[in-house]
Amino acid sequence: MAAAIGVGVVGLGGRGRYFCDLYGSNPRSRLVGVCDLSEARLDLVRGRWGDSTGYHRHLEDLLAAPGLDAVIVATDDPHHAGPTVQALGAGKHVMVEKPMAQTIADCQAMARAAAVADGVFMIGLELRHCVLFERVRQLLDQGVIGRVLLGWGIDNVSVGGNYFYHNRMRRRDYIKSLLIQKACHSLDLLNWYMGGRPTQVFAYGGLDYYGRTESADKRCRDCERAAQCPFYVNHDRFVMDYGATVQIDDLCVWGADADVPDNSVLAVSYDNGTRASFTECHFTPEYTREFTFVGEGGKLYALYNNEGNFLIRVQHRFTDHVDEYRPVFTGGHHGGGDLRIMEEFLDCIARGRAPRAGVEAAYDSTALAIAAEDSIQNGVPVDIPPMLG
Ligand SMILES: NC(=O)c1ccc[n+]([C@@H]2O[C@H](COP(=O)([O-])OP(=O)(O)OC[C@H]3O[C@@H](n4cnc5c(N)ncnc54)[C@H](O)[C@@H]3O)[C@@H](O)[C@H]2O)c1
Repeated sequence: MAAAIGVGVVGLGGRGRYFCDLYGSNPRSRLVGVCDLSEARLDLVRGRWGDSTGYHRHLEDLLAAPGLDAVIVATDDPHHAGPTVQALGAGKHVMVEKPMAQTIADCQAMARAAAVADGVFMIGLELRHCVLFERVRQLLDQGVIGRVLLGWGIDNVSVGGNYFYHNRMRRRDYIKSLLIQKACHSLDLLNWYMGGRPTQVFAYGGLDYYGRTESADKRCRDCERAAQCPFYVNHDRFVMDYGATVQIDDLCVWGADADVPDNSVLAVSYDNGTRASFTECHFTPEYTREFTFVGEGGKLYALYNNEGNFLIRVQHRFTDHVDEYRPVFTGGHHGGGDLRIMEEFLDCIARGRAPRAGVEAAYDSTALAIAAEDSIQNGVPVDIPPMLG
């Protein structure tokens, strides 16, 4: 059996600690070390992994650890570029969490570093590895609807209030946009299926449901209406949709300092002459993703939910014939994508092959989201700058 790949994790929030468990318990890899600026976060991992791994406050020390082959960058969204460029420069394989970054300049710096790096560069867009979305790609490749000409995608985010409006993610000065933070997964899938690179976007968006009425420092734990409020959260124990139990902030979702749009509508053009639309909504009753593609020979509809009730429906043009597919969900978080993207990363390292979601997927999904937010704020169509510009 090949030697286990030495993995380090930088950024030890809920996501980074989840990766410690995944890579630390996979026989193909071993957890060589972890890194966080916060001693408290390092202590959380120390409680679980003890002396079996190394603990670092500075990335240089993690990068110098003997046996380190690969780095998972799970720092928070504003801090992806620095550790990624540094780890690639040190000759390590890197998987950076989505979104690639929050600015075009950071994305371009990362793309330039990936272009000259010896190691694998991969982005944590795990939904490309969910069986539903793999099946959609296969069906399109088989030509079941012919060449895709038009597409639309929808992010229905019932959990938007609890995930984003209780904490600093409701503020543009920290998160920039929920299109960047959240929708980048679905924008990546849309790009993947449209088969081209996005060139321009026009978008509308607004904050129409959350925010606006309560003081900025009001919290669930002190709220007289907590028992009746559908958005009440226990700040000590909150279970994320990918299984991790984390401590969270419990600011009131109606806090007046929120300024991140909770809904948006995009029109996107691609360099292969196709067009798509996309909608993100954070106050729908359901938590699903929906995609529809129209090709020369028919229409394909795909429905995703976290419970794994996957559906694909293909209508064929000029007939009444409809095919239905129900790809079988075999468990794991994010539709099984979290487990499968880990195996993909280890495979790419072991075989020296390119990942399914590499630097173009990273850039196109994030740059599209950044340009769309720019369009929302300025009311004009926005061109998407070239990746290595
Ligand atoms: N792919 C997915 O489905 C998915 C799901 C959840 C989160 N994420 C992404 O994972 C990332 C982490 O999310 P989280 O909720 O765990 O974040 P978090 O804010 O809870 O934790 C981030 C950690 O990174 C540390 N950090 C920041 N800069 C650092 C640096 N330069 N060096 C070392 N440590 C540093 C912080 O101290 C903090 O402990 C985010 O980018 C998020 O968008 C992706």
